[in-house]
Amino acid sequence: MHDPDVLSLSADEWDELHDPRPGDCDFDRVVALAMSRRGFLSGVVAFGSGAAAMGFGAVLPGAVEASERFGFTPIPAQTDGTVHVPEGYDWQVLVRWGDPLFEDVAAFDNAVGGAAGDADRVFGENTDGMELFTVGDRHLIAVNHEYVNRDVNLPQRMDGVPEKLEDVRKLQNLQGVTVMEVSQGPDGWQVVKDSPYTRRITQLTPMRISGPAAGHDLLRTDADPSGSEALGTFNNCGSGRTPWGTYLTCEENFNGYFGATDEAAALAEDYARYGIRAEGRGYDYHKYDARFDVSKNPGEPRRAGYVVEIDPADPKSVPVKRSALGRFKHENAEVVLARDGRVVVYMGDDERGEFLYKFVSDAAYVPGGDTAALLDEGTLHVAQFHEDGTGRWLPLTPETTGMTLPEICILTRQAASKVGATTMDRPEWVAVNPVMAEGYCALTNNKNRGIKPNAGGDETPVGGPNPRAENLYGQIVRWRPKGADHAAEAFDWDLYVMAGNPALHQDARAGSANINAGNLFNSPDGMAFDSSGLLWIQTDGDDGNDGDFAGMGNNQMLVGDPVSGRIERFMTGPKGSEVTGLCWSADRRAMFVGIQHPDAPFPDGEGRLPRSSIVVITRRDGAVLG
Ligand code: FEO
Ligand code: CA
Ligand code: CA
Ligand code: CA
Repeated sequence: MHDPDVLSLSADEWDELHDPRPGDCDFDRVVALAMSRRGFLSGVVAFGSGAAAMGFGAVLPGAVEASERFGFTPIPAQTDGTVHVPEGYDWQVLVRWGDPLFEDVAAFDNAVGGAAGDADRVFGENTDGMELFTVGDRHLIAVNHEYVNRDVNLPQRMDGVPEKLEDVRKLQNLQGVTVMEVSQGPDGWQVVKDSPYTRRITQLTPMRISGPAAGHDLLRTDADPSGSEALGTFNNCGSGRTPWGTYLTCEENFNGYFGATDEAAALAEDYARYGIRAEGRGYDYHKYDARFDVSKNPGEPRRAGYVVEIDPADPKSVPVKRSALGRFKHENAEVVLARDGRVVVYMGDDERGEFLYKFVSDAAYVPGGDTAALLDEGTLHVAQFHEDGTGRWLPLTPETTGMTLPEICILTRQAASKVGATTMDRPEWVAVNPVMAEGYCALTNNKNRGIKPNAGGDETPVGGPNPRAENLYGQIVRWRPKGADHAAEAFDWDLYVMAGNPALHQDARAGSANINAGNLFNSPDGMAFDSSGLLWIQTDGDDGNDGDFAGMGNNQMLVGDPVSGRIERFMTGPKGSEVTGLCWSADRRAMFVGIQHPDAPFPDGEGRLPRSSIVVITRRDGAVLG
């Protein structure tokens, strides 16, 4: 049965409804544990004024001193239905869900949420991770469409519940990826319709599975006995880009698309760890499209949950699911080169108590060389954080896990549990600083920290980079690899920021010293560094602006200085939305930012359906934006 209140819920909201937050627990212990930590930079990991007043006294001078690195006046929190940027900046909508990508597609029909037959020829729903590529003199944006808002996308169906295969196909075609050309004209930035590069990749697009898992028995289905020819990409969340100019799209909550028409059928043992359930998650694909019915096609869910490589410069190229990068609820894929040129990919698994991963290629990247196997041959590692501020990347190999290499690539969570990885507070985006060897991961929140184990039974003790039980607000962990080499197995770590609310709390919930009344936020999620080494932080949290979240307003984008620790609010999104996805124009004078699942009336006004959109932010004086 479908409860109308659960329509259009994000993965986070759905989970909250079905697995609500437990009661309060012991914060004194949290503070004591967290305060035993020493950061790289004095003051940055210290708690805010409340904690200091309690005698923890670690708010050191300099941590939040004014920095000349910010070229804008920070803006206040907002609770309204539109976008706000600092004085001297402008924003405009670049593209919305349902906007035609081709001249022969009819304009968006508000009454039906866009024509079903055009769903794979319009800009998809729920914009998320994106990257800009320069191909010749053209500018291409590759961008994810994470999931659908069924009540908005199928307004003519009761509660947005699919009633036939056509409805399911519409939803499948509204997700995946768009590759589109953008150009700057007299009216600002626009999408170039009918560009030779324009492409929609959906949940039906043929793609290849490569790497150690390709062809394995666990991936074979009746429709694909080869175990290497998949259809579609799923729940495309964050993004990445390679030095050789390809786009990486990351499959996150893929489990939700699968269900069983025979609810009594026994589900495969490995499903539980990934949350694949007979009842599904509300999409109802399995009722109309047997590929998603695990009582008929038990291998199909194992063909999702990967990082997929797409060449935006070749519209005919076949996307490749890179199994060597593991199968889990991938957030993004941050690619950096090791000192010797090997390719390092940092990846978070966004679920409570799951892990942070790193892939290191066997071969080095050589500009202009053959890159075909770089993401197929290498070693996956998982992070283990120690209380003393050090940590190690633990290799996942047959020797360390007792599993075969294909099994490690398909059942990666199970492999990581075998080596003693640190259970994390929902790893979202990873961003690597371009001006010094350090990585950052947003740990968005975790109501289960210190309360219950992850789905594999691994304990989630309070401590290390996850220092608060029942973590409401989230934090950002950073690490510096030994020898300033991202291929190194050893690293040092600290917490860059702990979000909190110092106006309400005097304990660890006050947050770290770089949280103040002017920059309150919760649930850091999207992150990207600009070329100057400033960290842009986007949020996907509680935007109720009350209770524990009072003063935080709508979801937003802030900028953090890694050196001073200072964080300032740059942008606020419309009520109901998540701000997610960020890239810059080639000349860095425009910034493209995603607005996902806004409430009406964004962006078209009263009486119109709310539409996820990419907005473009520019400076009125034409200066660069980072
Ligand atoms: Fe799609 Fe974890 O965010
Ligand atoms: Ca989202
Ligand atoms: Ca996210
Ligand atoms: Ca999130």
